[in-house]
Amino acid sequence: MNEKVNKALKYLKVSLLSLIPIVNFFYLTNKFYFSGGKCHSKARLDGKTVIITGSNTGIGKEAALDLASRGARVIITGRDIQKAYRAAEQIRNETGNQNIVVEHLDLASFDSIRKFCSKINSREERIDILINSAGITLCPQWKTKEGFEMQFGVNYLGPFLLTNLLLDKIKKSAPSRIINVASIGYILGKINWEDLNMEDSYSPLGAYCQSKLGVVLFTRELARRLKGTNVSVFCLHPGACPTEVGRYMAHTYGWKTYLFIGLGYPIGLWVCKNAKEGAQTIIHCAVEQDIIDLSGSYFKDCKPAKLLPHGLNDEDAKRLWDLSESLTHLK
Ligand SMILES: *[C@@H]1O[C@H](CO)[C@@H](O)[C@H](O)[C@H]1NC(C)=O
Ligand SMILES: *[C@@H]1O[C@H](CO)[C@@H](O)[C@H](O)[C@H]1NC(C)=O
Repeated sequence: MNEKVNKALKYLKVSLLSLIPIVNFFYLTNKFYFSGGKCHSKARLDGKTVIITGSNTGIGKEAALDLASRGARVIITGRDIQKAYRAAEQIRNETGNQNIVVEHLDLASFDSIRKFCSKINSREERIDILINSAGITLCPQWKTKEGFEMQFGVNYLGPFLLTNLLLDKIKKSAPSRIINVASIGYILGKINWEDLNMEDSYSPLGAYCQSKLGVVLFTRELARRLKGTNVSVFCLHPGACPTEVGRYMAHTYGWKTYLFIGLGYPIGLWVCKNAKEGAQTIIHCAVEQDIIDLSGSYFKDCKPAKLLPHGLNDEDAKRLWDLSESLTHLK
C-alpha cells in the first residue's frame, strides 16, 4: 500500500516538474516575442504640445502617460468626458505633470471635430505631435452623425478631417509629427469605391479592414504632400491588444462572442500585448529622433515594416484623398 502511494507521489512530482519547461516556454515567448519592441528613447518633450485622441483608455492612455512623463503638455480627448477627466487625474498623479488638458471629441461627428479643432487652433500656441489613436472595432452596422459607416467614419474619415483642420498649426510648429494608429488588418482591406459605406455588403471585419487600409493610404498621401515641411507622418500596427477594442463585439456577434472569448482567452493570454506594450510603437513614432526621415512609413514592434502593394498604391491614395476632401467638405 505504502509503496503504491510512494509511486503515485513520484509520478506526480515528475509530471509537475515536466510542466516547468512548458510553462516557461509560454511565459518567455509571451514576454520576449509577442510583447513586441520597446521604445528606448529618453527624449524629453518639455515645451511641446501633444494631442492624443482616444486617450481616456487602453493604449492611447498608456501613450499619454508616457509622453506626459517626458514633460509634454498633453491634450487628451474622449467621447466620455468623465472618463477622460479620470484618466487625466491619474496621469497627473502618476507623472507629477499638471499640464494635462481634457477636451471632448466625438470622431463620429464632423460638428464635434470642427468645434474641437477651432478651439485648439484659437487657444493652443503649437501642436508638436498629433496622435490619431481613437478607433472602433467590429461594431454592428452603425452610422456616424453624417451617415457614414461607423468604422470608416471613426477610424478614417474623422481623423482625416481632424488632421487637415489642425495642419496649419502643426506645420508652423515643425519639426513636428503626425502618428496614425492603423492595424495589420489593412492586409485584408479593400476600398469599396462604389459603396464606401458597405450598404450592400456590410461585414464588421470587412469594414474594419477597409478603414485601416484607409489610414495606411492617408498616411502615404499626407507624407507626400508634407515633403519638405519638416512634418513627419507615420502609421503603425500597435499589436494585438485586448484592451477595449473588443467592446462592441457582443453587440455584433451576440452569444458567439462568449464562445470566441472562452476559446480564445488562453491563446490571447499567450500572444497578446498588454496596453503598456501596445503603446510602445506609438511612443517610438512620437519621440525617436532617428526616424524623422522615414516619413510615410509603417511601423510594427518599434521598427519600420514592409507594406503589401495595396498599401503602397499612390493612385489609390490620391483617389481616396480627393474623395475624402469632398465627403468632409474640406474643399
Ligand atoms: C489622485 O491623487 C489624489 C490625492 O492623492 C487621490 O485622492 C485620487 O484618488 C487620485 N486619483 C486617481 C485617479 O488616481
Ligand atoms: C527643416 O529643418 C531643417 C533642419 O532643422 C531646417 O534647416 C529647414 O529650414 C527646415 N525647413 C522648413 C521648411 O521648416
